[in-house]
Amino acid sequence: MIRLAVRCQPEQAELVLAELTVLAPGGVEEVAGDGYVEYAIYGAEGELPDLGEEEAVTIAGGTVEVEATEVADDWADRWRSFHKPLLVGDPKSGPAVWIRPPWEPEREDLAEVVVDPGQAFGTGAHPTTRLCIEALIEIAGRGGPFGALSDLGCGSGVLAIAAGKLGWQPLEGCDHEVAAVAAARENAEVNGVEAKFERIDLKAGLPRLAPTTVANLTAPLLEAVAAGLAPDNLPETLICSGLLTSEYDRVRAAFEPHGLVETGRGAMGDWGSLTFARELA
Ligand SMILES: C[S@@+](CC[C@H](N)C(=O)[O-])C[C@H]1O[C@@H](n2cnc3c(N)ncnc32)[C@H](O)[C@@H]1O
Repeated sequence: MIRLAVRCQPEQAELVLAELTVLAPGGVEEVAGDGYVEYAIYGAEGELPDLGEEEAVTIAGGTVEVEATEVADDWADRWRSFHKPLLVGDPKSGPAVWIRPPWEPEREDLAEVVVDPGQAFGTGAHPTTRLCIEALIEIAGRGGPFGALSDLGCGSGVLAIAAGKLGWQPLEGCDHEVAAVAAARENAEVNGVEAKFERIDLKAGLPRLAPTTVANLTAPLLEAVAAGLAPDNLPETLICSGLLTSEYDRVRAAFEPHGLVETGRGAMGDWGSLTFARELA
């Protein structure tokens, strides 16, 4: 678990907080010091925004100090109070997913996903995870199609588990990190969802893809996935995220030659998502 602290002048605080809130909708820890304000967010490695290696970066037009420190997973109260439940979708207008850490109370009225934060990428709070869940909710709200689902780069398994709660089945996922596969298996069990998670390096080859495939990766990895597609291994619906909005075109260009046509896109801050449907031959 990493604590990423951003320290700024009090007069910059409002703008810096606004930027960080997009990245950490679950909440930002605030510490007011002598002549500075420090905001901190917590997450697993890779889940936090990449602010570069520098100790001073520019956010919201001003220079801020950045410090990343490793904290123990059992860092009790502050760590717990940071991870808040998150609602994706609007239950008044359709399906919605409630993602919560194990210590927060249950919501039986919603499709609920319990994720123990810190084990692997995927507490649900990251914009790219939320964009994928929003795309799944949109399909579920239209009544499907459901059926089998693959989760490429599963991390904590949050997307496969959320899909299972929304109606997809059977569920499969893969990740190249041993810890992610272990966390995904454990999370599936905790959530009472049957899912198969395997260790696969997507750069080395693709698993068999289900009719609905979600891939929350980076643009270069999405291009590698596109390069590995074959006529007998194509999803019918593909949801991609992990790309920046400035990368929409290059990701679309990678999938289009396989007859995958863009049917929707989402954005949250600089993060983007693309949904594709397979053209009928
Ligand atoms: C952005 S995270 C997404 C996690 C989760 N699906 C979510 O939406 O919150 C990307 C995941 O892809 C995995 N990954 C990165 N490179 C990979 C590769 N070459 N093969 C398989 N998985 C990879 C990472 O370990 C990480 O868990």
